[in-house]
Amino acid sequence: MKYYITTMGCQLNENDSEKLSGIVEKMGYEKTESLAEADLVIYNTCCVRENAEERLFGKLGELKKQKEEKGTIIAIGGCMMQEPHILEKMKQSYNYTDIIFGTHTLHKFEEDLKKVLEERKKVRDVIDIDGEVIEGLPISRNDKYKASVTIMYGCNNFCSYCIVPYVRGRERSRQPEKILNEIKSLATQGYKEITLLGQNVNSYDGGNDYKFANLLDDVCKINGIERIRFISPHPKDFTDDVIEAISKNDKISKIIHLPLQAGSTRVLKEMNRKYTKEQYLQLVEKMKNKIPNVLFSTDIIVGFPGETEEDFEDTLDVVRKVNFEQIFMFIYSRRIGTVADKMPNQIPEEIKHNRFERLKELYDSKVSINNQKYIGTTQKILVDGYSKNDASILTGRTDSNKVVNFQGTEDLVGKMINIKITEEHKWYLKGEI
Ligand code: SAH
Ligand code: SF4
Ligand code: F3S
Repeated sequence: MKYYITTMGCQLNENDSEKLSGIVEKMGYEKTESLAEADLVIYNTCCVRENAEERLFGKLGELKKQKEEKGTIIAIGGCMMQEPHILEKMKQSYNYTDIIFGTHTLHKFEEDLKKVLEERKKVRDVIDIDGEVIEGLPISRNDKYKASVTIMYGCNNFCSYCIVPYVRGRERSRQPEKILNEIKSLATQGYKEITLLGQNVNSYDGGNDYKFANLLDDVCKINGIERIRFISPHPKDFTDDVIEAISKNDKISKIIHLPLQAGSTRVLKEMNRKYTKEQYLQLVEKMKNKIPNVLFSTDIIVGFPGETEEDFEDTLDVVRKVNFEQIFMFIYSRRIGTVADKMPNQIPEEIKHNRFERLKELYDSKVSINNQKYIGTTQKILVDGYSKNDASILTGRTDSNKVVNFQGTEDLVGKMINIKITEEHKWYLKGEI
């Protein structure tokens, strides 16, 4: 029996899919990259922005035929299924789906699948609760040297544009021992890089005053783990102890993902982000002073309701001042049930697109200039494998997550090595051992 799995959305969802894979592989399923060959198809969905719905419903239409021809089991889960209007549509128009599951019932997937296999039942397993922490699920990881470890679930921030708190429930942290044991086990399996995941990692609360900075310190003590990343912290919760943990621990990556969302204090207030433009810039300054060679990446939304030309200029101003190494840019997308969706002053599509292009141009114009600082330096690279485009070239990433291509032999894969950077090619660097 073969299964096919597709994941939309963020790394937390990817990590959930690794657990789904673990569950079905334990039941005897084998992974396939071919949809047509699959006996079980799993879609783990995202709803943070639009478009995803249309894509899913299109796919479901195509799958119906395969199901009729060979009895393929269809399981659709994840964040989108937690949206009441989508769940309703699934039940109305796509009721041939065998399993519909949400973000709070992933751990029951084995039970749900057995109901389909043994009792020929359709399973609808979506519940709306604050959420709990489930430990001990099997996991089949996508990567051999880099691993994601979820440290907390849910979000309490209710940024006015965002659907995540509605579909993922309230914040809850895993116990420190569970996280540290998982990472120790990864280290013994040969993993070198760990990314700690959560919607707001710096509000991690391990109990007994054990906070995110303590967790960072303890993860750094694990032998074998050579690089530690985390996403996403929230600027409003970036405390000095976390800054200190980053600056004193060599293993912690010195590129910090610090989601800005907007540069205008007025828009930030409407977004319910709880910091001002000035506070964001002060935080960046403080980190630049305390963490040598720190770099930043960020998320930015353009076209939030009521965003004026002047507000947008504030976003561009912050981009110029911080000089982000990487920017994930998004066009504001209305999400049913959120506060911003009900705001009267929605921005016309063409203005949103125009601002998106202008932000992109500003960022693109800086990439090559920013890359110059790497030329002639020696960078520590975790070697991922051979380049997709050229089988004689190895590829890996710097601490700052830049792709580096170089000539090397297979035995280097999965190792941290020093590479001297010789050229920049905008989206990647070239170097030699
Ligand atoms: N918890 C993380 C990530 C949340 S989702 C954080 O706060 O940084 C990832 C990104 O999607 C967000 O940072 C935001 O930039 C973007 N996003 C969320 N909702 C959106 C919406 N309605 N429209 C456009 N972009 C959105
Ligand atoms: Fe969404 Fe804000 Fe929570 Fe991030 S912090 S998941 S943007 S509500
Ligand atoms: Fe999407 Fe859910 Fe992640 S909505 S961004 S998959 S938490």
